[in-house]
Amino acid sequence: MCHSSTTAIVPGRQLLPTNVKPTHYDLTLEPKFDTFKFNGDITISLDVKSSSDFISLNTLELELLETKLVTDKGEFKPIEVKYDDDDQSSTFKFEDEVLKTGESVKLSIKFIGELNDKMAGFYRSTYQEDGETKYLATTQMEPTDCRRAFPCFDEPNLKATYDISLIADKKLTCLSNMDVIDTIEVDETTKKVVFNTTPLMSTYLVAFIVGELEYIESDYKFRDIPVRVYTTKGYTEGGKMSVELAAKALEYYEKVFDIPYPLPKMDMVGIHDFSAGAMENWGLITYRMVDLLFDENKSTLATKLRVSEVVAHELAHQWFGNICTMDFWDSLWLNESFATYMSWKCCNHFEKDWKVWENFVGDSLQSALTLDGLRSSHPIEVPVKRADEINQIFDAISYEKGSSVLRMLANWLGEDVFIKGVSNYLKTHSYGNATTEDLWISLTEVSGKDVKSTMKVWTTQVGYPLVTVNEVKDSKITVEQHRYLTTGDVKPEDDTAIYPIFLGLKTDKGLDESIVFNERAIDLPYEDFFKINGNSNGVYRVCYEPERWQKLGSSASKLSVEDRIGLVADAGALSVSGYSKTTNLLSLVSGWKTETSFFVWDEIITRISSLRAAWLFEDEKTRNALKSLTGNLVSERCHSSGWIFDKDENFLDQRLKALLFGAAASSGDLKVLASIEKMFAEYISGNKDAIHPNLRATVFNSIASKGGQLQYKALLNIYENPQSIDEKITALRALGRFENIDILNDVLESLLIGKVRPQDIYIPMQGMRAHKLGVETLYSWMTLNWDKIYKLLPPGLSMLGSVVQVCTSGFTTMDKYEEIEEFFKGKNTTGFNQGLAQSLETIKSKSNWVTRDSKDVEKWLIDNGYLK
Ligand code: BES
Ligand code: ZN
Repeated sequence: MCHSSTTAIVPGRQLLPTNVKPTHYDLTLEPKFDTFKFNGDITISLDVKSSSDFISLNTLELELLETKLVTDKGEFKPIEVKYDDDDQSSTFKFEDEVLKTGESVKLSIKFIGELNDKMAGFYRSTYQEDGETKYLATTQMEPTDCRRAFPCFDEPNLKATYDISLIADKKLTCLSNMDVIDTIEVDETTKKVVFNTTPLMSTYLVAFIVGELEYIESDYKFRDIPVRVYTTKGYTEGGKMSVELAAKALEYYEKVFDIPYPLPKMDMVGIHDFSAGAMENWGLITYRMVDLLFDENKSTLATKLRVSEVVAHELAHQWFGNICTMDFWDSLWLNESFATYMSWKCCNHFEKDWKVWENFVGDSLQSALTLDGLRSSHPIEVPVKRADEINQIFDAISYEKGSSVLRMLANWLGEDVFIKGVSNYLKTHSYGNATTEDLWISLTEVSGKDVKSTMKVWTTQVGYPLVTVNEVKDSKITVEQHRYLTTGDVKPEDDTAIYPIFLGLKTDKGLDESIVFNERAIDLPYEDFFKINGNSNGVYRVCYEPERWQKLGSSASKLSVEDRIGLVADAGALSVSGYSKTTNLLSLVSGWKTETSFFVWDEIITRISSLRAAWLFEDEKTRNALKSLTGNLVSERCHSSGWIFDKDENFLDQRLKALLFGAAASSGDLKVLASIEKMFAEYISGNKDAIHPNLRATVFNSIASKGGQLQYKALLNIYENPQSIDEKITALRALGRFENIDILNDVLESLLIGKVRPQDIYIPMQGMRAHKLGVETLYSWMTLNWDKIYKLLPPGLSMLGSVVQVCTSGFTTMDKYEEIEEFFKGKNTTGFNQGLAQSLETIKSKSNWVTRDSKDVEKWLIDNGYLK
């Protein structure tokens, strides 16, 4: 293994002092399931960078027992140990001048930690097996919880090698990043499992697991490297799809990056309690159960797509992030955007039929533009000053905007050139760290284009441009760029950046991608047919004059699927912000009933649903009219394609059927509702095949929304005894759909008393967010139970922000805006301040939207026969 380049320490990009640099950790841990503690013994080898008398490293909720420092001059005990709560660091002070520049020393610490239930650090996961409660010990270090598992220099650019050993009962499986070199008997019942030395790596990627586990190995052979899925008893078969994809994806990435996978094995483990979706620990990827397991007969296509995405994403990190790591968290996008971009490239390679890049325009690009349309968004490269700020930046900017910017860049450079540059970048910084600047350098070298100055604006500025198009017929087209804000209230100080915009001009002559529009405004020659942002390759929105919208609406055949998705999305977003009328959107989509693409339909339905969500608190007549509008758009098509699925049917045709069925149900389509009743009745009377998995969410949600205690019991029963993990989650989400206050209160009550795993508590809340009573009930529950919620989901971990967001963002009026603001006034919002600000701004934009356009929408609904 080659551990060539180490990283220079850049002062100011670390939160810890830089007087020493760790090179190697020798760590032994012994979890105790009877007391939920663990014993630890660590020796850290350090290079002394500057003479001093102290060492600071990170610890959190660790009890330090004995510390000694071994130097050339002998052994030293610290004369003082100081803990800094704010920095989560322990500082050992020694006698004067113990540490001399250029020396290598060893710091040994014995310690005790808590095998906590917070899904952070070295923690316990609890599950039931054959009526018995069982425990598994596992880790989640990213971003800054390694310090809960052992004392460490918890910074991404302080890479070191690790020798890890685990002490545990002989019947338990012990896993870590590396393969096992030795298993030593400690006593009759206990063993010590010793793992091979890791490559140079960051603390946040260290992992170890102790538990009763089973595994399956891939049939597909990836060199001679075993690729396995581990689960607790009885779940391994569900890992079949993931394990085969993983073996193939490793081979794929090896080829694409031209860098071999450096470890001797790849284990992927399903964990019952897991805060994120999955974690890319080097050689030992951990997953939430739903994001790893797939059952060909019982799971949905959406699950198939999600599981493939997650697996492909975490494997991409084995190169992006693990071999080459961002220098500091302010460049998190280098990890997450690349893993996201590469995961789609990988899925596209293996599953052409899924048309994942079309999917990307409707999903990733839109979530990026949605979040980044808020003033409370942040640039892709975002300053981070404190550890507790880091969790919040794992958001749509770091994942979706970043990957959208990469897609735009790859399109500009050509995908092959882009990948070549990326491969060079990875090779140059292997086993080290890199900055965005380093990436631009590699891409500039390989492409000969000025990548840095073109891309810098995109990664350092918050927001994105709106390109406004004005036409002088037969003469010219003027395009002008200004900042886009969802609230529509751009001020001069918001609008200082000029973006290099890849204009992508689509005309009857084809797509001209040569124009980089880098000024406030330019003129283009007039064209009878044209569209800006061809194939939606750019990260911006376009606003046309009303006649042009109409022309584009009737030119669907000249536009690609990506174009059509982009047009619907832009029309939708521009009506929210007031740059164009909502009726523009309504006219556009009303003309597209013959659309054939699943993704375009998905975008149409999403935009109409956002309209319905913004009108949630408006009068019932208008809301019903919007419902019939949905029905008018989808019912006919839904009836004609039906809702029977054939296994051999094209992936997207199946997804379209499921989508139309769901939309028809939400519009109150009688035929669909009758069939839902029938399926559900058959299902609960014992025919488990009565509901096709692809229809399950619609059936459960619809039954719940009209249901009472009987249906509640039935859905609870499905939640407790599911046929598959994704069915369990679907039932849980549907519990929030009951429009019955007693049931909703009961559901909310169950979240705080451990009936629902803390990792899942936001799921029924998502169901509640979908209806008026739910939105109101959810918010009053949150305000009444704030202290309990805060205790259950401490802000240093990642979930509180999402909970605050689901509990507040469903409202649509300024009264509620003020009420929410008032509630949080004087409370410490560290760890969720961004989520809260984004939620408030979303409410404001909905309120503005309704106030501005409700009359217009009403008139359109009357003119088009939906409202009397
Ligand atoms: N590195 C993240 C996991 C993570 C997220 C750790 C937040 C700490 C805080 C992982 O690679 C990841 O991105 N997981 C995603 C799934 C992915 C397919 C987008 C997740 O957890 O949802
Ligand atoms: Zn990731």
